[in-house]
Amino acid sequence: MYRQISPSSTLLLNEQSAAIEKNGRQVFRFGFGQSPFPISDVLKTALIEHAYRKEYTQVQGLQALRNKVAEYHSVFEKRKINEDQIFVAPGSKSLLYTIMCAYTDAAVLIPAPAWVSYAPQAELIGHATLMMQTSFAQRYRITPDILERSLSEAAKNYQSLLVILNSPGNPDGLCYTAKELQALAVVLEKYQAKVISDEIYAPLQHDNQHVSIARYYPKGTFVTSGLSKWAGAGGWRLGIAILPEDCDSQLKDAMLGIASETYSCASSPIQYAAITAYSNNVTMSLYVQHQRTILKAVGLYIHKAVIDAGLHAHAPEGGFYLLLDFTAYRQSLKAIGLNTDSEICNKVLEDVGVALLPGISFGLSPKALCARLAYVDFDGTLALEDISEGEWSETLTIKHAQKMLLGIENLGRYLKQIDQDN
Ligand SMILES: Cc1ncc(COP(=O)(O)O)c(C=O)c1O
Repeated sequence: MYRQISPSSTLLLNEQSAAIEKNGRQVFRFGFGQSPFPISDVLKTALIEHAYRKEYTQVQGLQALRNKVAEYHSVFEKRKINEDQIFVAPGSKSLLYTIMCAYTDAAVLIPAPAWVSYAPQAELIGHATLMMQTSFAQRYRITPDILERSLSEAAKNYQSLLVILNSPGNPDGLCYTAKELQALAVVLEKYQAKVISDEIYAPLQHDNQHVSIARYYPKGTFVTSGLSKWAGAGGWRLGIAILPEDCDSQLKDAMLGIASETYSCASSPIQYAAITAYSNNVTMSLYVQHQRTILKAVGLYIHKAVIDAGLHAHAPEGGFYLLLDFTAYRQSLKAIGLNTDSEICNKVLEDVGVALLPGISFGLSPKALCARLAYVDFDGTLALEDISEGEWSETLTIKHAQKMLLGIENLGRYLKQIDQDN
């Protein structure tokens, strides 16, 4: 007998897209959420310099790196963070797993929509999962009311309560405001719940206005982040976690035990190179600032095109995603036999070459007719070259977003035609 766990839906979509391209047809790749930007030259140089490092490091991560990460995040989150609170691992995904795995008798409360891996990870560990449904009207945010109801229900049966938050969010590109986080922190504290705050997209908050819930609940918050998104280095597999302030030594020992029995440590050359990423240097900050400017401009332009196509979506505030809502076309889609998000995604991939991930992958009801669009189908290297020559402009947005805009235009025309015919 084998464990029931399906491969990630992103990988499946990539295979379908590749098959269509092989038949000579164009695919608009909105499915895969990988940074379009290259790794900064300063990081590449740092990695080359440290290629000879062959030794295992401390399980928790190199002290010099943890020190830099603590300094960086103390400034970024406007709170004092100690290097002992920092955990380094091969990707923040491993850290999410390690944190959840450190608890026994736990319920994991997950907003819907939320990133694809939280629930499968919790289930692999054997934790109960409880989805907290949100809606378009609530901007896909959990409210103190929803949180309170879910926590009081979970508290009846489980000793440890773990809540997942993700801001800026995947799949919606939206952020929690300081006021919303403050209100959630009050409820979390009341139930002595821990929050795992996935802030992997935080440096890509388009206006550089990221707020962490850790500011309002430092003793109950784990923050996770890493180099995958803002440093364009997903394949480097470098994640970091910030443990709650004054966290008990048993929790840390459990995490160290799990880490040492599974991945041992993050790769040492990558850890040495990451010291440069987290050192406050002008090159890195300009590189991230440029990404924010480009992503904001492209995101808003794509959003406008999506609205023109007759779909609902909130304008993105961080990262590189938009959550499309097809409900305006519900009746006409139903008339041609499309009743769920997956049916719509399969059909638009087949007919228009537009690759989207259905909302069901993110815990939404298939009848909500939502799909995630990642606006990363552009050449990030060329975009960075253009922005380094001067101000970013609408002309540059159109130049770089051209292919994606064509894909959305085609999608809009296709949907409007269906509407007309039915
Ligand atoms: C919301 C979110 N969290 C975590 C991850 C995983 O990041 P890492 O590469 O650090 O494991 C991703 C990657 O797509 C993500 O979108």
